[in-house]
Amino acid sequence: MSSIIFLWLLLSVISQADSVPEKPKRSALNQLTRMLLRRYDCGVRPVLNWTSPTLVYIDLIIQSVLDVDGQMQKVTTSIWYRQIWKDEFLMWDPEEFDGITEISLSSDAIWVPDVIISEFVDEGKSPNIPYVYVNSSGIVKNYKPIQVVSACDLEIYAFPFDKQNCTLTFRSWLHSVSEVDLALWRSAEEIATDTREFMNDGEWELLSVPSHYWKMHLGDRDYAHIQFNVLIRRRPLLFVVSVLIPSIFLMVVDVISFYLPPNSGTRITFKTSILLGYTVFRVNMMDEIPATAMKTPLIGVFFAVCMAFLVLSLAKSIFVVKLLHHSEKEVKEMSISACLLDKYGSTDQTFSESLFTSVRTLDDVDQSGGYEFDLSPEADLLSLTEARDGSPQLEKVLQEVVSLKLYLQEEEDEGSAQTDWLALCYKVDKFLFRMYLLILLIYSSTLLLLWSSWSSG
Ligand SMILES: *[C@@H]1O[C@H](CO)[C@@H](O)[C@H](O)[C@H]1NC(C)=O
Ligand SMILES: *[C@@H]1O[C@H](CO)[C@@H](O)[C@H](O)[C@H]1NC(C)=O
Ligand SMILES: *[C@@H]1O[C@H](CO)[C@@H](O)[C@H](O)[C@H]1NC(C)=O
Repeated sequence: MSSIIFLWLLLSVISQADSVPEKPKRSALNQLTRMLLRRYDCGVRPVLNWTSPTLVYIDLIIQSVLDVDGQMQKVTTSIWYRQIWKDEFLMWDPEEFDGITEISLSSDAIWVPDVIISEFVDEGKSPNIPYVYVNSSGIVKNYKPIQVVSACDLEIYAFPFDKQNCTLTFRSWLHSVSEVDLALWRSAEEIATDTREFMNDGEWELLSVPSHYWKMHLGDRDYAHIQFNVLIRRRPLLFVVSVLIPSIFLMVVDVISFYLPPNSGTRITFKTSILLGYTVFRVNMMDEIPATAMKTPLIGVFFAVCMAFLVLSLAKSIFVVKLLHHSEKEVKEMSISACLLDKYGSTDQTFSESLFTSVRTLDDVDQSGGYEFDLSPEADLLSLTEARDGSPQLEKVLQEVVSLKLYLQEEEDEGSAQTDWLALCYKVDKFLFRMYLLILLIYSSTLLLLWSSWSSG
């Protein structure tokens, strides 16, 4: 009986000992980690035979293009970067460790290749991922997102229909190809066409990411490089809507303003306001257009030429108005001189003559004063005829009639001359307008052709 109780006690003690939680030291994961890192030196390249190089596989997914800075010639991209290599010291038999085939280790504790991007110019805001995955055959997977600020030779001439070709070159900064070699994890085609993760709603469209492997010979060693060409294209719609179309509208309004009558000053006022509006518009748009010290995009030239066209049309209007006013003055001067010529040329002659005759008749009347009260029929008849011939009132009336006739004639002449001038001015205006339209048409069609070829090619 006592032996049964003893056995029961023993069993209960054993079961109690069984229910006590295992210390963390003894967990399979812990044991495995300790076993792997016990005599691990993270400064030593993990190969058993030093002559064999470590092959680092690289993979890349472009996640987004954050910023393209034409002035500084740099591009900020967000990429998902993967590095995979074989660590010959991190191998184990899964059978021994509770079937564990894959564990995560601190990336500080193991050897990590010094692969960097040659073009990087600035440290982006990349999150620090402290772990790597290691599987039982020693394959280490180091996955991390990186924000790359890289130098890129930006071609802005075709802006806003531009395509950019920015390279990201991965290489081991120190190790030559005999120590660290590079290779692509997936096939080049697969990487080139992988745009699944790309945030496609931004300003830039990812076309493809072709890649190739090459070796650079430096000194007596070869250095492995893997180059990714990130080909991106700008979406011009936003820019076309916000900049190009208003500019085109202003030009159209300017062209329409040619239908305002040229002899009123309104056209000049109107054109001046358009020019002013365009200047304000351009100043506002200056920030939106990328510019480098060396090159200006064609759109900058487009704006400058549009401005030149506006100035040209304003100058043309001023010229026509000047021509009109000039002609009016000239016609007036001409008519005045003609009038003066008439008055003091031939008319003056008759006027003085008539004056002379009238004075003479008055003298005659005075001379015949002695007979004034002699109411002889002969004398009466004589004085009457004298009065009719040279009366000053009659002479004055005649004079008035002559000058009125002259004035009317002059007016008519002046009117016809003015209409001739006006017609001529209108013709000049029309001709200049056609020239202007032609130049504008040639210019805009050239530009359109260029841009359409860029945006489609
Ligand atoms: C290392 O590898 C090379 C060739 O791969 C071989 O000739 C050499 O014997 C190896 N060394 C050792 C210690 O195994
Ligand atoms: C370790 O990972 C590599 C690459 O994913 C794979 O090829 C290999 O089969 C894995 N090894 C084991 C034991 O799962
Ligand atoms: C991009 O640039 C690289 C070198 O800078 C060049 O080898 C490659 O052909 C270019 N790709 C395209 C599509 O222009």
